[in-house]
Amino acid sequence: MKKIAVLGYGTVGSGVVEVLETNKEAVAKKAGDEIEVKYVLDLKDFPGTPIEHKVVHDINIILDDPEIVVVVEVMGGVEPAYTFTKNALLKGKSVITSNKALVAAKGAELLEVARERNLNFLFEASVGGGIPIIRPLNSSLTADKVNEITGILNGTTNFILTKMASEGSDFASVLSEAQALGYAERDPSADVEGYDACRKIAILSSIAFGKNVNYENIYTEGITKITDKDFMYAKAMNKSIKLLASSKDDNGKVYAIVAPMMISPEHPLYNVNGVVNGINVNGNMLGDVMFIGAGAGKLPTASAVVTDVIDAIKHDGKNVACFWSKEELKLSDIQESVKRFFVRIADSVEKSSVEAVFGKVNVIEIMKGEYAFVTEPMSEAKYSECASKLDGIITRIRMDR
Ligand code: HSE
Repeated sequence: MKKIAVLGYGTVGSGVVEVLETNKEAVAKKAGDEIEVKYVLDLKDFPGTPIEHKVVHDINIILDDPEIVVVVEVMGGVEPAYTFTKNALLKGKSVITSNKALVAAKGAELLEVARERNLNFLFEASVGGGIPIIRPLNSSLTADKVNEITGILNGTTNFILTKMASEGSDFASVLSEAQALGYAERDPSADVEGYDACRKIAILSSIAFGKNVNYENIYTEGITKITDKDFMYAKAMNKSIKLLASSKDDNGKVYAIVAPMMISPEHPLYNVNGVVNGINVNGNMLGDVMFIGAGAGKLPTASAVVTDVIDAIKHDGKNVACFWSKEELKLSDIQESVKRFFVRIADSVEKSSVEAVFGKVNVIEIMKGEYAFVTEPMSEAKYSECASKLDGIITRIRMDR
């Protein structure tokens, strides 16, 4: 019997207990031993629930118990999760987490602590919920040099953008609906401002490129400025708008960005709709490979956590290599990266003035008072320089393939 502790009995923590109970026999077979949750750490008590006699409020009870071989951290936030995780590793316990804030901020350091002690620090559930993506990057795609990872990594914003596209609704009313359905938090800023996706692409990039990507250096733009009018243009152009989180290795220069992008039906992520997440990895030998599935939610996320628990138990005393070193990966200035831009502009501006500044553009006219144009590929810096020469620009959205 292997004994584990779960830190945090919220959505994911209760899901972990449920997965372990529901799939008890299958899990035991795969782990080579039965797994029992000995403790649940939480601020609250849970009287009348199956875990009521397992609840503890003092982390030291868990840290000082030699029977505990794996600690599952599903509290969220950097502190006290970081201190608890590090102390658990220092006490000889492997740690599994679903906490992207912790992994993005402290992943390289915690991996090193685990490596030095022949333990494991595993975090499959921190990106893409139930979708296997960390393990494939770490162990299945290792023959390739990753050229690009582009993902829809946030279910809440994908739900909002999908609804805006299909129903022509405005951002605020779809956000309220998402909150009522429990998809969006009451404070939705981490999702709608792109911060959640930013941390997730930092984690994926750190593994794919083998060096630590500081999420604070990733250019991040959310979806709060996307309007129903932008979707009217997208529809007229047979395109969609998605919040993409992307990192690309362009001949040794790595660019990373989180921003809404206009994409075509040929784009691998075009049909990833609703709360679903999708991740496209492009390798230099493999080409494109896609991962799609439930990017959030209690049981899908808990399933990924339990998979890591099984892996840690199978690899007792042996560190599973993770290609993420502490060395910093210097990201290249996004201003140098090249894209086409979709631009909406007041119709008081002559098209000849637009072409005088931007060169040849494709014009789209579908509503009164304004029109839109798509530029030729140009750098972000060049776009900003051109845009500063024109009054009347309403908005701009980057275009991906
Ligand atoms: N808020 C996140 C999302 C939860 O909407 O995708 C999963 O990390």
